[in-house]
Amino acid sequence: MKNFQSEIIWSYKRWSNSKKGLLNSHQNIYFYSKSKNFKFNQYYTNYAATTNIDQILQDRKKTANGKSIYKTDENGNIVLGKEKKGVPLSDTWEIPYLNPKAKERVGYPTQKPVLLLKEIIKIVTDKGDLVVDPFCGSGTTCVAAKSMDRNFIGIDASKDAVELANRRLEEMIITDSALLNKGYNSYLEKSEYEMAILKSIDALPVQRNSGIDGFLRKHFNEKPVPVKIQGKKETLNDAIEKLEKSCQGKEFDLKIVIQTRRESRGNRLFELESDIEIIQSQEMIIEELKEKSTVPNNV
Ligand SMILES: C[S@@+](CC[C@H](N)C(=O)[O-])C[C@H]1O[C@@H](n2cnc3c(N)ncnc32)[C@H](O)[C@@H]1O
Repeated sequence: MKNFQSEIIWSYKRWSNSKKGLLNSHQNIYFYSKSKNFKFNQYYTNYAATTNIDQILQDRKKTANGKSIYKTDENGNIVLGKEKKGVPLSDTWEIPYLNPKAKERVGYPTQKPVLLLKEIIKIVTDKGDLVVDPFCGSGTTCVAAKSMDRNFIGIDASKDAVELANRRLEEMIITDSALLNKGYNSYLEKSEYEMAILKSIDALPVQRNSGIDGFLRKHFNEKPVPVKIQGKKETLNDAIEKLEKSCQGKEFDLKIVIQTRRESRGNRLFELESDIEIIQSQEMIIEELKEKSTVPNNV
């Protein structure tokens, strides 16, 4: 196709069991230009964690049989390359799908996230440029363009869509994405220690929930089983209380707290009334075994 530039894959995480086969979790965006001479703002992203940046910063050359080797100077020292900007923005974009409860949602069935349109606008326009969306629907492109100080024109065959787009342009609600701002790793807050405990009981970790650390992979009485690990600064009562709070309004048949430290009776002046089962972490069981052991050290 003439002046075809790229096929952009917009990918996102979603959960559904409704279909046999692979879960659909991307859409395709076709990028064309009017002519060969088009504006393109190059953006760079960070190197992957698997990239050895030290190697990238060394110049290379091709040998006679096409193999890439490091360039060396007359003294055999490696020639260091020019400053690198990172990895050019790729044609695969991970941008969250609009959450059903997002404030940005206006109820338009095919509404796209503003963040997706912002990404498109930033690579091909600058401030003051004109952005045109001839099928603007709820006006997402116009909202994105306005928020980036671009001029814009939105067109739609539906009068309702145009009215909705105008209303949105007055309110300008854009849902920020913590995922894009902080990255995936910011969601992974479980320590190695907690992950090891959850793995040992075949539980899936729950992130960003102070009362539930995981759920057993296998249900009990066809209901999920929440698990809370007693935190380093938590008493057993604290842990029980937090799990109870997170379970309020949900009828689980089994709830588990993993006790990680021994507590003197004095520490638990009163025991909370709760149907939570308490089991000891393996580490704690071993510690207790060691204490109980009567075998002399020097046998
Ligand atoms: C996929 S929706 C756009 C959704 C939009 N990106 C958003 O985020 O809300 C496509 C829109 O094209 C409009 N449309 C369809 N045929 C049209 C036509 N011939 N001229 C103008 N608009 C048209 C529809 O009314 C619909 O709102």
